[in-house]
Amino acid sequence: MDKIEKMLDFLKSKIDISPETGIILGSGLGSLGEKIENPTYIDYKDIDGFPVSTAPGHKGRFIVGTISGRPVICMQGRFHFYEGYDMKDIVLPVRLMHLLGVKNLIVTNAAGGINKDFNVGDLMLINDHINFMGTNVLIGKNDERFGVRFPDMSYAYNPDLRALAKKCAEAVGVEVKDGVYIGCTGPSYETPAEIRAFRVLGADAVGMSTVPEVIAANHCKMRVLAFSLISNMASGILDQTLTEEEVLEAGRKKAEEMQKLIIKIIGELPNV
Ligand code: HPA
Repeated sequence: MDKIEKMLDFLKSKIDISPETGIILGSGLGSLGEKIENPTYIDYKDIDGFPVSTAPGHKGRFIVGTISGRPVICMQGRFHFYEGYDMKDIVLPVRLMHLLGVKNLIVTNAAGGINKDFNVGDLMLINDHINFMGTNVLIGKNDERFGVRFPDMSYAYNPDLRALAKKCAEAVGVEVKDGVYIGCTGPSYETPAEIRAFRVLGADAVGMSTVPEVIAANHCKMRVLAFSLISNMASGILDQTLTEEEVLEAGRKKAEEMQKLIIKIIGELPNV
């Protein structure tokens, strides 16, 4: 038995529901985890062979339970390429979710706004991405348990789920923008010249996560929905510098709206 199957057995031994939706919570957005009902917590450090987040103050656990009555598995604390993890480790949780039977993946992140019509605190529904990480998580021998050698990425961000998200956003009175996410490795932020170049390429927001997980999720045919919270305007856009407090405050306010929206969406997901 290989390492992922052992992890799967361990997770199954800890939970008594079959999650249908996976959620990955981005930086500063972990509080949705507190809204999960009947939660079971599984710390990453208790899963043999699982990567452990080194960032201080990072929770690093799965929460399994229900949201709007639907079974979910949530990652509170994700792994970033800039932390030094292998791409394969970054997507291991997505693959575990797939083996657990998860069909929908909801991903959130904090991102820098490139589109000049965006403002700090905006919520962007990701409609597509540009992989600018210089590598691809699927490089290497293809594991047929997960998917085909050359997976299609034409609908990487599921159009039905995006339409549902827009309908739900209207219903709960949350404004969402729409745009393309460009994934960079970090950890340095971009230069103003890079941001100008990314705008020409068609990107609306920039961040250091999400792309590997979304590729792995598409590989195993999960339906993906993803949101960026615009936590700052990207390098070189604003003349004045924003204070960190302002950015955090915008994030706090909007994180709650994002939670409300995600809870509504989960309640309305079609049965799979
Ligand atoms: N650049 C890259 N990643 C980010 C940013 C940014 O401006 N903001 C939040 N994550």
